[in-house]
Amino acid sequence: MASNPVAADGRSRTLADGNQIPALGLGVWQVPDGPECVNAVRWALELGYRHIDTAQAYDNEESVGRALRDSGVAREEVYITTKFNPGGKDPAAEAEHSLKRLGLDYVDLYLVHWPQGGPLWAWPGMERAHGRGHARSIGVSNFSVAELQSLLATAGVAPVANQVQLSPFEYRRALIEGCQQRNVAIEAYSPLGTGRHLSSPAVDAVAQRVGRTPAQVLLRWSLQHDLIVLPKSTHRQRIEENAQAFDFVLSDQDMADLAARDGTGGTDLAVEHKWW
Ligand SMILES: NC(=O)c1ccc[n+]([C@@H]2O[C@H](COP(=O)([O-])OP(=O)(O)OC[C@H]3O[C@@H](n4cnc5c(N)ncnc54)[C@H](OP(=O)(O)O)[C@@H]3O)[C@@H](O)[C@H]2O)c1
Repeated sequence: MASNPVAADGRSRTLADGNQIPALGLGVWQVPDGPECVNAVRWALELGYRHIDTAQAYDNEESVGRALRDSGVAREEVYITTKFNPGGKDPAAEAEHSLKRLGLDYVDLYLVHWPQGGPLWAWPGMERAHGRGHARSIGVSNFSVAELQSLLATAGVAPVANQVQLSPFEYRRALIEGCQQRNVAIEAYSPLGTGRHLSSPAVDAVAQRVGRTPAQVLLRWSLQHDLIVLPKSTHRQRIEENAQAFDFVLSDQDMADLAARDGTGGTDLAVEHKWW
């Protein structure tokens, strides 16, 4: 069931609030603020990416903003996500601080980074940020189906996205289904396993079969599940390689061979070990 319609070319999804989101975004977790981050984002924009995923906790919003300004690409053509660090108190105030660091008037998507202190308390502040026009869409990250359900039961503005760890090795089937049933789009983070899954023989076997790289196979797997996918790289050539996942198709057998690597038991949980 595709609750978030996929564009004909597969390159964007429509969120429950009607906003469009590009299906591929550059992630910048663990990219140091400064030239490394500015370069990665600038290259991505040059290479056609139109979606950047940052967070207050990544400490690199200033570089993301600088790269966007330097790129010459119009603000409205680029989808910018940041995330509320739930170590803070007020998501609306923190959104304003993010906007200042980014040098922007609004972000496209603002997520509660993880449900520290429970899934509910931050949401009124997220709704305030949305109401003030500081975030065009609001959502969550690292929420299980149960956490999402309790939030949906009380939210005035429903979350439109849940960003979670997903790959063939973390194929959280019940979480995917639970989000789809509730019209919450799923963003796949760590789609390459923070690099770990790139050396998997199972991935390599599929890559050999289809004549693509392991990274492209992993990203294609997510796209074929209608997920929004967020690979990170600081190397121009890899950023380019990772964008080339729209012009081939994995067979049902390839998809199944990859899904067989799942180590989560198809869970509806977002994380195995909470870090908060
Ligand atoms: N919401 C959350 O709690 C959360 C948590 C984790 C991640 N995320 C988001 O998801 C994004 C991606 O996840 P991730 O950072 O864990 O990692 P990832 O995208 O799964 O993997 C990145 C790693 O793979 C390497 N790599 C990338 N493309 C490659 C290629 N084509 N060939 C060979 N190596 C390649 C990168 O190295 P180089 O950089 O050296 O090229 C890096 O070491 C994050 O940046 C962040 O935006 C969100």
